[in-house]
This record gives sequence, structure tokens and C-alpha cells, in this order.
Amino acid sequence: MPRNPSTTALDPTKPTVARTYSAMLKQKSNLPSDRSLLGDLMQVIPSFPELAKVNFDYMRRSSQWLARHQGIRRFLDIGSGIIEPPTLHDAVRQVDPGCRVVYVDNDESVLAYREHSTSGVEMLEWDVRDTENLLRSEAVAALLGAGEPVALNLGSVIQWLGDEDEPHRIVRMLVDSLPGGSYLNMTTPTSEFSADVAARVTQVYADHGILLTTRTREEFETFFDGLDEVEITLPYQWRSTRETVQLTPDTSHFLSGIGRVPMRGASEHR
Ligand SMILES: C[S@@+](CC[C@H](N)C(=O)[O-])C[C@H]1O[C@@H](n2cnc3c(N)ncnc32)[C@H](O)[C@@H]1O
Repeated sequence: MPRNPSTTALDPTKPTVARTYSAMLKQKSNLPSDRSLLGDLMQVIPSFPELAKVNFDYMRRSSQWLARHQGIRRFLDIGSGIIEPPTLHDAVRQVDPGCRVVYVDNDESVLAYREHSTSGVEMLEWDVRDTENLLRSEAVAALLGAGEPVALNLGSVIQWLGDEDEPHRIVRMLVDSLPGGSYLNMTTPTSEFSADVAARVTQVYADHGILLTTRTREEFETFFDGLDEVEITLPYQWRSTRETVQLTPDTSHFLSGIGRVPMRGASEHR
């Protein structure tokens, strides 16, 4: 399995983002250290599991929409989290069983809990900060190299990049590698609605050894500079048919965004 040196080593006494997300979603791939972090987060935001579920559902709904309505058949899902049902590849394959997905995550536990590998679906253990080599990796180069549009998913992942990691440069490099007609699809926790809550959540993560960087709406929007048809919204509001969700903008603490890569020249056709 391809991997690079900057990936996270598995230490069961320390929580990881991927396993804690599994705990938030009431899935099975998590440990007491992850559930302890989640308990502390819920002291600040009692509905934290609901926020995670809304984000999780958004990534599936939006990917399925890209497959059904925009003809996307290739998905590069960076910061995939642990692949537990209902999986993103199952969601898009309901539209077309030929959809191809490359999952990328730097958390060793994502591969340790790897059970849902199937033809046309690959998993890479890679750190997105090692962007150039990630783009050169066999799986990603093959996914992007066919010239067909690709959905680049960065669901709830850029908050794990500090400003010193230059996340805008990383996302720009990834977007520049996509064929015209591709999509950038991202979510992120935001300090926009409550700077106080964002600061307290950041502190809880820091107490558990994890650096979180929330971003304002303006900072988030600039990831989409140069893209077409950009929709910045809240994940639970995006084309939602869920009526049971109890969130308001003030309690959602997340932003989502989708934008389309312009056609780059006369040689590119959809
Ligand atoms: C909250 S989960 C999101 C899962 C999924 N994308 C979603 O939105 O439902 C964030 C994932 O990003 C991964 N991650 C964090 N930093 C990363 C990095 N530098 N490179 C690759 N993956 C990273 C974590 O390991 C974790 O699995």
C-alpha cells in the first residue's frame, strides 16, 4: 500500500481525527481515547455528533449530485476518513457502478480499518501536504490523467492544516492539476458564527494534542477563486430535503463550498 513518511503513526492512547469522526458518527472504528475527546467536545457543542453527521451526509449528497447532474465519474476524496458504510463510493455508484474513487488519508487507522476495498476504489495513505508527490502517485496520476472531469473532495480536512502549511497553495496546486469541468467540493468548521465556540473547540483539540484551525467565510471563499458556479453555503442547507435537522446558522459551525473548474483551452471538451 503506498504511503509516505509524514503519515500519522497509530498510537491507541492518543485520539486521531479519523477515529474520533467515526465515534461522532456512531460507527465502530474508534477507541476510548477518541471517545474521550468527543466527550470533551460535546461539553462545548452538545450537538457535535449531529454536526459530523450533517457533514458526512453532505459529502455523500453532493458527490451523488455531481455524478447524477454534472456527469462526474471520478472522485479524488482527500481526508477520506475511515471507510465505513454508507460509503461515498456506494453513494456515487448508485448513479453509475463505473464510478472510480481514490481515497487519500494520512491517518494510519484509515488503512488499519480498511475493509471496504473493491474494484475501481483505491486507498492511499498520504499526507496532502506532500502535494506534488501525491499528484505523481500512480493512483492519483491515473485518475486525473484520463482528461475526464474529477470531483476533488476535501470534506472537513483543511482545518487540520495550519496557516504555516499554506493550505491555499496546496488547494491551488490540486485544483490546477484537474481537467476543465472538474469540481472542488469542500467543507470546513468556521469561526464565522461564533468566534468564542470556535476558540473553545480549538482548545479542546489542543488539550488532546491535535491542532485545529477554523476559518472565516472570507478565508474559505478564497479557496474558490477563479472557479465558476461557486456555491458557498451551510452543509445542512445545501439542496437539503432533510426537515428533521435541528440546526440554525448559529449552531451549525460549518461551511460548504462547490465550484467548477473552467475549461482551460480549445482542446478540452466535456
Ligand atoms: C473529519 S474527517 C472527514 C472525513 C470525510 N472527508 C468527510 O467529510 O466525511 C477528516 C480526515 O482528514 C484526515 N486528514 C487530516 N489531515 C490530513 C492530511 N494532512 N493529509 C491527509 N488527510 C488528512 C484525517 O485523518 C481524517 O480522516
